[in-house]
Amino acid sequence: MRIPTGITGLDDLMEGGFDESSINLVTGKTGTGKSIFSSQFIYMGAKKYNEKGLYITAGDTAKNIRKQATKIGWDMEALEKSGSVKIVEVEPYDIEKLLENVSISKEMTQAKRIVIDSISMFELYVQEPYKIRKNLFAVLQKLRDMGKTVLVVAEIPEESKNLSRTGVIEFMVDSIVILQFMGIAKYKRSLAIRKMRVTNHSSDIHPFVIGDNGIKIMRI
Ligand SMILES: Nc1ncnc2c1ncn2[C@@H]1O[C@H](COP(=O)(O)OP(=O)(O)OP(=O)(O)O)[C@@H](O)[C@H]1O
Ligand SMILES: [Mg+2]
Repeated sequence: MRIPTGITGLDDLMEGGFDESSINLVTGKTGTGKSIFSSQFIYMGAKKYNEKGLYITAGDTAKNIRKQATKIGWDMEALEKSGSVKIVEVEPYDIEKLLENVSISKEMTQAKRIVIDSISMFELYVQEPYKIRKNLFAVLQKLRDMGKTVLVVAEIPEESKNLSRTGVIEFMVDSIVILQFMGIAKYKRSLAIRKMRVTNHSSDIHPFVIGDNGIKIMRI
């Protein structure tokens, strides 16, 4: 079964959305729209598809996530009040603690969609690369087993040609969406599906805009 991303114009480019019980990565340099993408996945999931969502933020405050959503026109707080969305802040040094958030409340054990924004924060705080890989893999595997559709955010350092800070997460995930900012083109922002297992997905670079309803992919 497919889980629609809720990003306008994106689901048609990937056979209807993310695979159910899969781990998906959205990556890009700073300010490329990763958190807005993630909020849209959670907001639309709850609003349009009636699926509960948990947004775990490590690095930014829950307040800022709400503020950004409000600016775009999404009443995230109403969804939080009704129990269909929860935004939680976690300390970015304990990967194992991530799972505790999934059972933070009775409602959230039923969450279908989970965002982890961002995984790079954990990479920054854990010294041993082996420990990151081991714990990260275990956590993601557990979430997959629980039937969650997970969206993980990673950051690409400004000068890097890699897909993430430590070059590990990209091999653990089922799909990768890359967001880019190109200063000079007509459309400043673009999105590409870098990989998506067992899916006939678009391999083009798609311009997008961030507007009143969040991210919208432009037709090319
Ligand atoms: N209401 C809006 N309308 C249009 N563009 C917006 C709006 N709100 C934010 N933006 C743009 O989106 C960018 C931020 O998006 P977002 O926070 O999702 O990026 P990010 O990739 O998560 O960044 P970071 O690396 O800081 O976490 C802003 O820098 C701004 O250019
Ligand atoms: Mg962000």
